Amino acid sequence: MAAPRTRYVCQSCGAATPKWAGRCTQCAEWNTLEEEAAPQSAPKGAVAISAGAAPQAITSITGHDTRRISTGIGELDRVLGDGVVPGAVILVGGDPGIGKSTLMLQASHNLAARGPVLYVSGEEAPHQVRMRAERLDAATDHLLVLAETQLEAIERHIENTAPTALVVDSIQTTWTERLDSVPGSVGQIREVSARLIGIAKKRGIPAFLVGHVTKDGAIAGPRVLEHMVDTVLYFEGDRGHAYRVLRAVKNRFGNTNEIGVFEMGGEGLAGVANPSAFFLSERPQGATGSVVTAAVTGTRPILLEVQALVSPAPYGSARRTALGVDAARLGLLLAVMEKRAGLQVAAEDVYVNVVGGFKLDEPGADLAILLAVAGSFRDAPLPEDTLVLGEVGLAGEVRAVQQIEARIKEAEGLGFTRFLIPARNAERLSRPGVVPISSVREAIEQAFQ
Ligand code: TYD
Ligand code: MG
Repeated sequence: MAAPRTRYVCQSCGAATPKWAGRCTQCAEWNTLEEEAAPQSAPKGAVAISAGAAPQAITSITGHDTRRISTGIGELDRVLGDGVVPGAVILVGGDPGIGKSTLMLQASHNLAARGPVLYVSGEEAPHQVRMRAERLDAATDHLLVLAETQLEAIERHIENTAPTALVVDSIQTTWTERLDSVPGSVGQIREVSARLIGIAKKRGIPAFLVGHVTKDGAIAGPRVLEHMVDTVLYFEGDRGHAYRVLRAVKNRFGNTNEIGVFEMGGEGLAGVANPSAFFLSERPQGATGSVVTAAVTGTRPILLEVQALVSPAPYGSARRTALGVDAARLGLLLAVMEKRAGLQVAAEDVYVNVVGGFKLDEPGADLAILLAVAGSFRDAPLPEDTLVLGEVGLAGEVRAVQQIEARIKEAEGLGFTRFLIPARNAERLSRPGVVPISSVREAIEQAFQ
């Protein structure tokens, strides 16, 4: 469908329609519609980051748009890359009810200290947003709430209010009259996002787009715009737990893989200042099959507890259950254990879990997983002050990990004094408590003394 060349705009309320009428359908004023040229539009889904730009020397480009603005939420700033960049568009995805609106409202409140922030709510009525803001202590005059789902109306309000930051909650409910497809369809999401991105770039304001994603990714919508936006954050967590993890899966302005940890409470989301302590807080004393390792997420190491339970399986039906670790990786580690260290686990049920619902997807956690299994199998606890690091190879060798010092430092801060680390890493480290490990067999011997 080609866009019409002209349109009629109400001089009273600014509503636009493709057809002339004696009375505005929006504000009901008479004789207020005037013809004007419809804005030249880019093709559907096109992103305009800088209209009519000419090439320029890279050294002459000013860095004004790399200034960082704090959202006033430390954990959010961290994930964004030390605050938000003007003109950046951030997709905030996550399951319904996980806390996206809460986080956005809290951030909007803080950003409103710099000037008006437009919070477009397509899912909740203004009084609902107000009630929530009261509870979060996030109500302020500069926080403008707009209950609107039509993009053209939102665009007019952006013109009128000239916000310094924009939140659109959610991208699924927002639709444009340019397309006939239903709100939330891929076409609508693409077009609406492209135009909001254009607005953010043109005005040099940060824009947060909220998108619902179901666990199995059934709603494909927000996924299609991952490549259009600058930053993609996913809000994760277990409904059964109060903690939430905000993860950057894409970031043009910072580290990916960075995470922010929050706790959901009666007054909204509070940043968890020390995630390592938080995740180890319920660690059992002297339990077998419990091993602590340090994973590096983005710029910061986080200590995590890996638990394993090994128990004899009925003949011929040994099961492997991996929660938070890759099932294929676990299979590999079990094979290495059996073949290289002589632990007969083939006939055992093996369950592995990373406490806190975390996903440990780096090979540096291999040895910790392996020792958790070995500990449960042998019914031998690891001393509580032991940190385990190392990648395991198929020959049973233990390979070096990156950022060893940062990981050890994080553990030292929490009272760990014994560090089972790859021999290659240990060569370049002289500190007390380091136990160099070069093979899986050696690790098992050293660990359970
Ligand atoms: P919400 O931000 O509405 O989630 P989303 O926008 O991702 O769908 O969060 C809703 C949940 O958070 C709801 O189950 C209630 C809970 N909650 C709190 O526990 N404390 C609070 O202060 C707020 C505002 C919400
Ligand atoms: Mg919401």
